[in-house]
Amino acid sequence: MTSTEETLSNLSKEDRRFEPPEELAADANVRAEAYDRAAQDREAFWAEAAERLHWDRTWDQVLDWSNPPFAKWFVGGTINAAYNCLDRHVENGLGDRVALHWIGEPEDDTRSVTYAELKDEVCQAANALTELGVQKGDRVAIYMPMILETVVAMLACARIGAPHTVVFGGFSSDALATRVVDCGVKVVITADGGYRRGAPSALKPAVDEARAKVKEQGGEVEKVLVVKRTGQDVDWDDDVDVWWNDTVGEASTEHACEFFDSEHPLYVMYTSGSTGKPKGILHTTGGYLVGAAFTHWEVFDLKPETDVYWCTADVGWVTGHSYLVYGPLANAATGVIYEGTPDTPEKGRWWKIVQDLKVSIFYTAPTAIRSFMKQGQEIPDRYDMSSLRVLGSVGEPINPEAYVWYRHVIGKDKTPVVDTWWQTETGSIMISPLPGVTAGKPGSAMNPLPGIGADVVTEEGESVPNGSGGYLVLTEPWPSMLRTIWGDDERFVDTYWSKYKEQGWYFAGDGAKKDEDGDLWVLGRVDDVMNVSGHRLSTTEIESALVSHPKVAEAAVVGAKDEDTGQAVCAFVILKDEAGDGGEDIVEELRKHVRKEIGPIATPRQIMIVPELPKTRSGKIMRRLLRDVAENREVGDVTTLADSSVMDLISDGMSSGK
Ligand code: WT7
Repeated sequence: MTSTEETLSNLSKEDRRFEPPEELAADANVRAEAYDRAAQDREAFWAEAAERLHWDRTWDQVLDWSNPPFAKWFVGGTINAAYNCLDRHVENGLGDRVALHWIGEPEDDTRSVTYAELKDEVCQAANALTELGVQKGDRVAIYMPMILETVVAMLACARIGAPHTVVFGGFSSDALATRVVDCGVKVVITADGGYRRGAPSALKPAVDEARAKVKEQGGEVEKVLVVKRTGQDVDWDDDVDVWWNDTVGEASTEHACEFFDSEHPLYVMYTSGSTGKPKGILHTTGGYLVGAAFTHWEVFDLKPETDVYWCTADVGWVTGHSYLVYGPLANAATGVIYEGTPDTPEKGRWWKIVQDLKVSIFYTAPTAIRSFMKQGQEIPDRYDMSSLRVLGSVGEPINPEAYVWYRHVIGKDKTPVVDTWWQTETGSIMISPLPGVTAGKPGSAMNPLPGIGADVVTEEGESVPNGSGGYLVLTEPWPSMLRTIWGDDERFVDTYWSKYKEQGWYFAGDGAKKDEDGDLWVLGRVDDVMNVSGHRLSTTEIESALVSHPKVAEAAVVGAKDEDTGQAVCAFVILKDEAGDGGEDIVEELRKHVRKEIGPIATPRQIMIVPELPKTRSGKIMRRLLRDVAENREVGDVTTLADSSVMDLISDGMSSGK
């Protein structure tokens, strides 16, 4: 049985159902009627959602789909994302509401900012960036720890119309340099470092290295704006480096913002595709903000006056963009942002934060839930988490056991769990239960949200009957859809829109199943993309990193099932002849190399040095067979291999410990 078939047959045995709590259902932001209303007139539905925001000039047309797949939403409208997240609320008398409770990793290192304070800081940063020469349309990279200044930096960029590209702080200088070059970044915003696992962890040296690499590739970073967070020593280039405090701290809090065209670029977020080169996913302002804000209010049933909302994602990922910054702030929510790891200084850290801040909506990833499950119920049981009323999950399929544990141990059986399916590309949640409407099934993302068209289809594009699996597609354009891949319209069309060109559907790259009731179960990627702890990694990108090591001749990478991280990186490596057996520490040496090239999240769990790789006659690596080896299964059908004895060689090589 392949792992997909296995999943499918396990799922069909799952028959637990959880009805929405009565009280929540009675007062839900979005009711069942929304599905019908949206189906009757999709554009009118989204127009109504858009009216929740402030537009300086109203749109003339909701959707222009005359040149698919290049969409324009709210055509002719003008809007400013930062104004919508801040000024609007202050003008509505909400200036004293806490926008974000920031919790540093060192205990007692905390700060809560109100909407009025955040607005002032964003205006200062906007003025400072302008002073540094950043103009509307210029790109700014943000490479930061999880601190308030990161949010300020993003909103300041949005305010002046300079698209930001946030690069996850755990990525290497190489990864940063690649993104800076691809995006043509003018200014980088960073910090000396951040706190992780009880110690300061440096960031600025990686920016210095990246800047040198950018130069080698003919680019140039003009300025680097540095927040002082840890006080570590940093190298300083007087022509380029400027302290945040000296510039932003000194700037005026007055800033009259411009309202931009609805389709003005808001940000680029890089994500792994099935080739080695990361894709710069472009989101624009109006449609994106409508999608993020509306779904945040809808899916979490947000009551901004009373809820305390915590999304644990790092701002370096799209979840941090849509559900930590743009969605919640546009909705005038009170949010939480935590700098460190879940187990520092002790394993109950997250639950202590929930207790202390009375968090009522909590959004995290299955990989975190599974690691808490492993540590045991005693730890969360020490805390009073009765404030919780909605729990969310995102990033990978949540296994029914983790779902039930989450609902039972963290939610005390009174909180709905919303399993939300979406992608960097979709910008906002597409498939999810509604907490006041849907009877949840553990492991199922359930239904497309009102206004979203999704289906599971065959290779030929036929909708599969209930009880069957196929490819997940989105059948209608939606406001927060990606507009293109930065600088590469052709790749945008090829990657997402060519498989179902005739039908005009968006191909998500995921396999999914419709159960007997027609509810959706997302099964995972169908391309060469892995999902490690809810983070997307490309097999080819890691293969290229391995091959760049002088001792490596060839490499193949697969994602193997992993109890903790969902999937784990497993690499098969052929060494060059002159490298001999590579030396005693070869495996560690290669693991380190990948860490350095891409970042810690890409570090292989396992590296196997092998004499050959299984290939088809046309030279394509058969990853399916390598997955069998990595998951300790009997190796499957080898008849399409060019040389069917290769698998024996691999197994022999492994058992001899080579
Ligand atoms: C891929 C997108 C969008 C948030 C974080 C990841 C997988 C995401 C779910 C879910 C099953 C999920 C898919 C998707 N995925 N959420 N609820 N159930 N799978 O964003 O890095 O763009 O990855 O994550 O495979 O295609 P991303």
